[in-house]
Amino acid sequence: MKDFKKHILITGGAGFIGSHVVRLFVNKYPDYCIYNLDKLTYAGNLANLKDLEDKPNYRFIKADIVDGEHMLNLFAEHKFDGVIHLAAESHVDRSIANPMEFIMTNIVGTVNLLNAAKFHWQNDHSGKLFFHISTDEVYGSLGEEGFFTEETSYDPHSPYSASKASSDHLVRAYHDTFGLPMVISNCSNNYGPNQFPEKLIPLFINNIRNNKPLPVYGKGENVRDWLYVVDHANAIDIIYHKGRIGETYNIGGNNEWKNIDLIRVLCSVMDEKLKRPAGTSEKLITFVKDRAGHDLRYAIDSGKLQRELDWTPSLQFEQGVSLTVDWYLNNQDWLDEVTSGEYLKYYEEQYVKR
Ligand code: NAD
Ligand code: TYD
Repeated sequence: MKDFKKHILITGGAGFIGSHVVRLFVNKYPDYCIYNLDKLTYAGNLANLKDLEDKPNYRFIKADIVDGEHMLNLFAEHKFDGVIHLAAESHVDRSIANPMEFIMTNIVGTVNLLNAAKFHWQNDHSGKLFFHISTDEVYGSLGEEGFFTEETSYDPHSPYSASKASSDHLVRAYHDTFGLPMVISNCSNNYGPNQFPEKLIPLFINNIRNNKPLPVYGKGENVRDWLYVVDHANAIDIIYHKGRIGETYNIGGNNEWKNIDLIRVLCSVMDEKLKRPAGTSEKLITFVKDRAGHDLRYAIDSGKLQRELDWTPSLQFEQGVSLTVDWYLNNQDWLDEVTSGEYLKYYEEQYVKR
């Protein structure tokens, strides 16, 4: 068997962002062995990684991070040098409906991985890194002005963001208490290919193609800062290799959109690509009851990452949206597949019965 320079565990690699990170690392670093560990929940899909199946430096491990003993055994077996931890329950609306899954995976699962890394790396920290992927939602909600920096106090409001905030604190605690080499990144909203159609952009693309209502929460005035997923994956690569141990880096697109404005852009791009008369998709917009605890505005100051590690987003939003819509329209089988089964039940509970 080939001697690899590093053995890197990527958790949640069958999900949206994870699949882009796995692809980048497998293709860019043939001398690293990349282990994609994923439970394959509703959000995990191996079809996202079909192009990597035969790569000699790629392995898939089906496992649940909530099983602590299994995590310890996997570290013993594969001698991971690094962990890039993305596995999580990731959707705010599901966390409102069922917080416990978020506590188990996002908090207990993270601690299980920390314990495994602490135990197996205790005698030698050199070249080891636990990279925890987090979200800007831990910082809470901004008013009309200002940005989240790495110094902003945590103030999470949803069970999702509170569970991610807890996991961030635990990762820092393992660094401060046990010396575990770690780094954390907090990123803004991602969009792009392979995102599960429960999140705003792919949900609305799917509904427009099926002529279904577009459920805008409240008045559509909430603001999010959108980043193309490949730019997030590139930031993760840079931070993994050049980030300073013990540090936090904010990642953002410097690209704020009020939901209703973004939705109008999406409607117009969809009309154009589907060759429907201008204005057709906008007619599907339906204002519905607001999300409980809905954060008004997220906006990231990614100056530290740009200054220290020379990262910048590569795509303009208009290009990113066009690429994203093209991907979904060229991969309608993928959409049909993930919107059958469990999805129909979720959709009914979230949008029809409420
Ligand atoms: P996703 O829901 O698309 O993917 C999550 C993956 O984790 C899935 O493949 C799922 O099967 C796997 N998973 C869930 N529970 C597991 C468990 N118990 N054991 C093993 N695997 C499990 O999520 P995503 O949008 O790709 O987000 C990935 C990470 O990035 C998360 O940690 C999320 O908090 C963070 N993040 C996401 C965004 C965003 O906009 N999507 C922004 C910033 C940070
Ligand atoms: P989402 O994609 O769920 O990301 P997050 O809540 O993590 O930011 O939602 C993005 C924005 O879109 C958020 O303000 C909620 C809003 N939204 C809707 O208006 N309707 C929907 O059906 C969904 C899923 C989201």
